[in-house]
Formats: sequence, structure tokens, C-alpha cells
Amino acid sequence: MKNGSMLRVENLTKVFNTGFIKGFEIRAVDDVSFTINKGEIVSLIGESGSGKTTIGKLILHLLTPTSGRILFKNRDISKLKGADLKAYYQDVQGVFQDPFSSVNPLHRVDHVFDIIFENLLKDVDEKEKNVLVEDALRNVKLNPKNILGKYPHQLSGGQLQRVLLARALILRPQLLIADEIVSMLDASVRIGVLNLLGEFRDKYGMSVLFITHDLSLGYYISDKAIIMYRGRIVEMGDIKKVFHNPLHPYTQMLLQSVPDLNVKWEFKKRIEPEKEEKGIYAISGCRYVFRCPRKVEICQKDRPELLEVEKNHWVACHMYKR
Ligand SMILES: Nc1ncnc2c1ncn2[C@@H]1O[C@H](COP(=O)(O)OP(=O)(O)OP(=O)(O)O)[C@@H](O)[C@H]1O
Ligand SMILES: [Mg+2]
Repeated sequence: MKNGSMLRVENLTKVFNTGFIKGFEIRAVDDVSFTINKGEIVSLIGESGSGKTTIGKLILHLLTPTSGRILFKNRDISKLKGADLKAYYQDVQGVFQDPFSSVNPLHRVDHVFDIIFENLLKDVDEKEKNVLVEDALRNVKLNPKNILGKYPHQLSGGQLQRVLLARALILRPQLLIADEIVSMLDASVRIGVLNLLGEFRDKYGMSVLFITHDLSLGYYISDKAIIMYRGRIVEMGDIKKVFHNPLHPYTQMLLQSVPDLNVKWEFKKRIEPEKEEKGIYAISGCRYVFRCPRKVEICQKDRPELLEVEKNHWVACHMYKR
């Protein structure tokens, strides 16, 4: 493991079982390994259902892995409890896709800040606390006057998500899991929030796992990219290498659909596994085989390994087998 490594995910797997009768296994995350170094922004990119949020929740200890390990600064997080878990949440914070599910609808939004002051920042006095909260809100381009004192349902999803981001950043986390945090925002605000993440990286060495559907946002902000397809990493590496020299047919297809990296582009629609290919999680070979224009016989049978085909550029495709 490199010295600067903040988070190491090793052979991480999460299997969900759907339904009691006629249910099938969803291998939402299937043998995934990657590293996030200190001060690095890593985009986790993939279409709906590829397992991105599941990875975020596993890292935040909100789900238990079926197998595999997550190491934060060389420590296995699975055994964290009590004070150690609290300390972990001081270092690792998450902001999720659906902000309303992260707050209590009966409490004013101010309460989301009370929670961290009561639990994680006990020594801060009232006056200091107000300054911290208001500054944090302004940082995420919100006017404290329009936010504090309101109930969650009085805010838009994008506003509430920024409140949660503001809260996470007050803790100066070493690692931020940012799950689709700018998708709901207007273009003008979006760049401000992205730049804020860049600033935290540069000033405090914060690392970010930036989960997104949006390739151009991933490109704009990241140092590294991880491209996922149905629970597996198909390609990863330096952002420039992956975007300018995509090797996996899936990454190539994604990038062909982006006319210009400065233009926002999103996946159009979720493809439900049932409607797509039956048994996609049971297949022994490559999961992209059903859609791949370059498939050959072996792709059905053997799972391609993730290989480093040039420095800091990995791909899992039989075309690049040595
Ligand atoms: N609690 C759960 N129980 C059963 N299946 C689940 C559960 N959570 C996620 N899944 C399934 O796991 C797969 C991966 O879901 P996940 O939410 O991680 O995808 P995602 O990449 O974040 O998608 P999106 O872009 O839509 O947010 C999907 O097929 C999803 O239906
Ligand atoms: Mg998600």
C-alpha cells in the first residue's frame, strides 16, 4: 500500500436477495478493489444500478459487506464500535443522493448541525457554533437567513443537500463520500460547489469519492476515475488516461455519447435488470457481454481480470489479456 493511501477497498462484495419467492441475487458490488490516496478526488462513474451508492454506504459503515474489507488508514473498519466509530465519523463523512432520507422531517434544519455539535464537536461554544454554521452555509452558496429556522420540507432537495454538505465540511473530514451531490443543483451553483470540494482538497488534503452519473462533472473535478458496470469495475485510472484513451468497450460507448466534455450529459434511463438480460448476476464471464460489440467466445465464460495495461490505467476486458 502506498504511503499516501487513505482508503483501501479490497475485494468488496455486497449481495442483496430480492423477494422470498422467486427472488434472485443481486450482486450489487462484486469483488471490487481500489485505493483513494490523501488529497485525491476519485470519481465513481456508472449508470443507474451499477452499485455506486452501495459502495458509498459500505464505506460509511451503513451496510455490512458480504465479503471483502475496507481499510481506512490501514485499519479494518468492520470492527469499529463506540468511540472508535465516532472518531471514524469525524474523519469520514457522507452526503447522500436523497437528502430527505437523511434528516428528521419533524425537526428544523438547524437540528442537523446540533447533532454534530452534541456528538462530535462538544467543545465549541454557542457563539462559535453560530459562526461556523453560517460560514459553512455561505460556503455552499446558501444564505443562512433563508435556511435556518425552516423545516426540511420547506427547502428544495438541492438546498437540503447543500445543508448536509455544509455540515459534513464543518468537521473537516479527511474523506468525503459525495453521492450525486450536485445533480440536483442549477449550473451556476454547481460549479461553486465543485470548486469548494477542490478547495478543501487543496487546503486540507481532503479526499473525495465523487459518485456521479455525469461524465463531464467527473472529468471536471477528479484526479482518478473508476468506471463501474453492474457491480464490477470495468476500467479505472488517471482521469486523463481513462477519458482520453478509454480501453473498455463500455467506457468507449459512454464517452462516444458525450459530444463535448464541457457539456453536461446524463444517462437517460434506468435499465432494470429483469428487462435487460436475465441472469446477469449469475453469468460467469463478463457482465457487459450482452451489450458488447466486440465480444468473443471467452467473454461468456471467463470473468476478465482488472489488469494494469499502462501505468495507472487498469481495464477488465479480454481484449487486453496478456
Ligand atoms: N437494500 C437493497 N435491497 C435490495 N437491492 C438493493 C438494495 N440496495 C440496492 N439494491 C440493488 O443493488 C443494485 C445497485 O444499487 P445502487 O443503489 O448501489 O446503484 P447506483 O449505482 O447507486 O444507482 P443510481 O445511479 O440509480 O443511484 C441495484 O440493482 C439495486 O436495485
Ligand atoms: Mg445511487
